[in-house]
Amino acid sequence: MVELNTGCLPIRRRELLLASASSAVIASGAVEAAPAGPSSAAPAAGVPTAQVSMVVNGESHTLTLDTRTTLLDTLREHLHLTGTKKGCDHGQCGACTVIVDGRRINSCLTLAVMHPGAKVTTIEGLGTPEHLHPLQAAFVKHDGYQCGYCTPGQICSAVSVLDEIRAGVPSHATADLVAQPLLSAPELRERMSGNICRCGAYSNIAEAISEVAGRPA
Ligand code: FES
Ligand code: FES
Repeated sequence: MVELNTGCLPIRRRELLLASASSAVIASGAVEAAPAGPSSAAPAAGVPTAQVSMVVNGESHTLTLDTRTTLLDTLREHLHLTGTKKGCDHGQCGACTVIVDGRRINSCLTLAVMHPGAKVTTIEGLGTPEHLHPLQAAFVKHDGYQCGYCTPGQICSAVSVLDEIRAGVPSHATADLVAQPLLSAPELRERMSGNICRCGAYSNIAEAISEVAGRPA
């Protein structure tokens, strides 16, 4: 146990930390803010709700949601599809990437009520342990992960990246906007730049995507 000498009273380090934390909470006015867990997924009484229907990984769901519920929280807290990860919850890391009506989006930045009737694909809908999606298999083969937290978002993003290139959608790295984009390393890296990997597995991720794209990394 560490004791700090404050000049008048000896205070144990743990007591000092608890006192500091309490002051900070009171000062911020956050005394009543309780963390929301899976058991609190049902809307609280009095909050505006809406019924939302969507097809997730081929399965139809109709949910009554607090209208402020993000698509990410809908997937994780209401449908218990926890493969999609919450990294920053601010659109900055890409861990929450899912595919909605064929396009990748950050599910933390969009509300579920904005997607009535949408077809949503999460990592759970891409493949199974017995029948991996080619990108899932390539990530395993090339060690495209370490802790794995970013991996579902990386793979969902990569699936869409290859679709975007095939569909001729240009990126910031595309030199000729009217020509078919190349499956080049700069194209793949630019298009995957919204998916952060804190473990730094980038070169292995690039190798995995390049293999499926049919080009050397
Ligand atoms: Fe959505 Fe980070 S959790 S971008
Ligand atoms: Fe750990 Fe990417 S594998 S954050």
